Amino acid sequence: MADKTLVILISGRGSNMEAILDAKLPARVAAVVSNSPDAPGLAIAARRGIPTAVVDHRRHGDRAAFDAALAAEIEKHAPDLVALAGFMRILGPEFVARYAGRLMNIHPSLLPSFPGLHTHRRALEAGVRIHGCTVHFVNPGLDDGPIIVQAAVPVFPGDTEEALAARVLREEHRVYPQAVRWFCEGRMRLAAGKVVIDAARPREQVLLSPAVEK
Ligand code: GAR
Repeated sequence: MADKTLVILISGRGSNMEAILDAKLPARVAAVVSNSPDAPGLAIAARRGIPTAVVDHRRHGDRAAFDAALAAEIEKHAPDLVALAGFMRILGPEFVARYAGRLMNIHPSLLPSFPGLHTHRRALEAGVRIHGCTVHFVNPGLDDGPIIVQAAVPVFPGDTEEALAARVLREEHRVYPQAVRWFCEGRMRLAAGKVVIDAARPREQVLLSPAVEK
């Protein structure tokens, strides 16, 4: 099967982007695009020889104009998949419809709990005992869409926001490349609005860390 073409969208650090680049997937990352010229992830991508581009949201009058400029940049590469990796702009319904079924996002909570910002702080405030991250296809709603894979981590008494964020981020770096791999291998389909992963053992789709049996 031919390698899939990917475009990765970032806004900041780019550690999830790096995890995807490190995973040796059957994919070619054609470009990394940021809405912010200051995103540290851009330099990381460039050092690895990946073409980068900036579509600065501040240079576009409204969201529709930004979305159109972003889509034009993406379309230069005709990707099979667009992966949002810490991309912190809300995309409008037209953009989302255009990339339906090939627009993936990672979110640092167990959706549908805690969509939006400051997920680790809010998890601590809510007193949940289990927190985590979700990879999902993107719908027009905020941090909404069919769930592909989730990883759960414990919340320990005395955890700080930083400690919890770091524990979740380690799992993000495992599940996002896994989800992209399933997509690239053509093992993913939607059935009745839910994601079915062909040939994945059930336990591959639910990561618990530390594993329950330990
Ligand atoms: C990650 O924790 C990602 O889940 C989150 O931003 C961080 C980006 O880190 N994304 C969202 O909150 C999207 N709603 P990274 O730039 O190092 O990958």
